[in-house]
Amino acid sequence: MPYTEDLSFLFFTPTRIVYGVNSSRDAGVELRNLGCTKAVIVTDAFLYEKTDIVKKIEKVLGPLCVGVFSDVPSDSGLHVVNNGYAYAKSRGAEGVVSVGGGSAIDTAKGIAILLKEGGKLEDYQGFQMLNRKVVPHLCIPTTAGTGSEVTYAAVIKDHEKHQKLLFGDHHIIPDVAILDPVLTVGLPPLMTAATGADALSHAIEAITSAQREPIADALALHAIRLIKKWLPIAVKNGTDLNARGQMLIAATLAGVAFGNAQVGMIHAIAHTIGARHGVHHGTANAVAMPYVMRYNNTDIAEENAMVAEALGIDTRKMTAEAAGLAAADAIIAFDKELGLPTTLKELGVPESDLAACAQVAIADGSIVYNGKPVFDPAEILLVLREAWSGKK
Ligand SMILES: [Fe+2]
Repeated sequence: MPYTEDLSFLFFTPTRIVYGVNSSRDAGVELRNLGCTKAVIVTDAFLYEKTDIVKKIEKVLGPLCVGVFSDVPSDSGLHVVNNGYAYAKSRGAEGVVSVGGGSAIDTAKGIAILLKEGGKLEDYQGFQMLNRKVVPHLCIPTTAGTGSEVTYAAVIKDHEKHQKLLFGDHHIIPDVAILDPVLTVGLPPLMTAATGADALSHAIEAITSAQREPIADALALHAIRLIKKWLPIAVKNGTDLNARGQMLIAATLAGVAFGNAQVGMIHAIAHTIGARHGVHHGTANAVAMPYVMRYNNTDIAEENAMVAEALGIDTRKMTAEAAGLAAADAIIAFDKELGLPTTLKELGVPESDLAACAQVAIADGSIVYNGKPVFDPAEILLVLREAWSGKK
């Protein structure tokens, strides 16, 4: 829908963004600028043991680094954050440096909460549970997708309940994001595609959100253009530093966009099948995207049409409805071009679990921001059925 005189919004993005090839060499200077002289690096075992990325950052931090917590799995959990906090506290840390993908960054956000407030992470689940800023957090992403380097949210799994918990608070937005294309060069093609699809879903959901607003629109539309152009190149040639860099920029733009406008049903579904079936977040978004766009098209075809235009579709002779559906079709084609799956069936989600997935997704925090209001799990089930079979 076009904006009217009823428009009101709040746009907030406090993160200092440092971009450039080898910009991670500035990590020490940036950390010191935050007034932090003792930080732990939060990362995963692969980056720490199998690459030299973390060792190089340890080196540039020098005495500012008081330890490395490298136990972050690909799907972080409450126990991981609580263990990381115990480790950081034992090292006398007063800040965190996250190095990795969304899981490492979100774990560091949780540790930063506990370093300030103490207790257990469970105590802070929900929205705006904090009343002061957490300890300094410098973020160095090694994937181009989550946007977590600039957002107020951390998604942490409760492994006992098989649910993803959201911790959303403006006090946990990282202070600095260093975007160094060199650090994403080692990401394999399929992970490059899947994390890039996550960024694309952030941009599309920001534009089609019930809380959409013009500044986020502008950022998201440019993110879509960049992803359409550069993601296939980054997937085909991982060492192309320009493609890697443009994808880092796109992911951050999309992160700022959805950090303000929020995400909707695509993420509600991705969170659900991620928690229940262990499907990678970006891959789940890639699959859910076109089916949710089709569902939303009856109410917000004009927003979908904006997406179509940013994807390079000539919409001049199309109605908004046709352009919106063309955008959804283009996403399926894009997923295929990137080598990503396009159905839940391919992801191994059992058809018999779809009804239960719909029940969980309707309770996900993202669903309330979906551009087309959703009140009934039966509506989500319709989308899930189409996404499962791939049939319209
Ligand atoms: Fe996401």
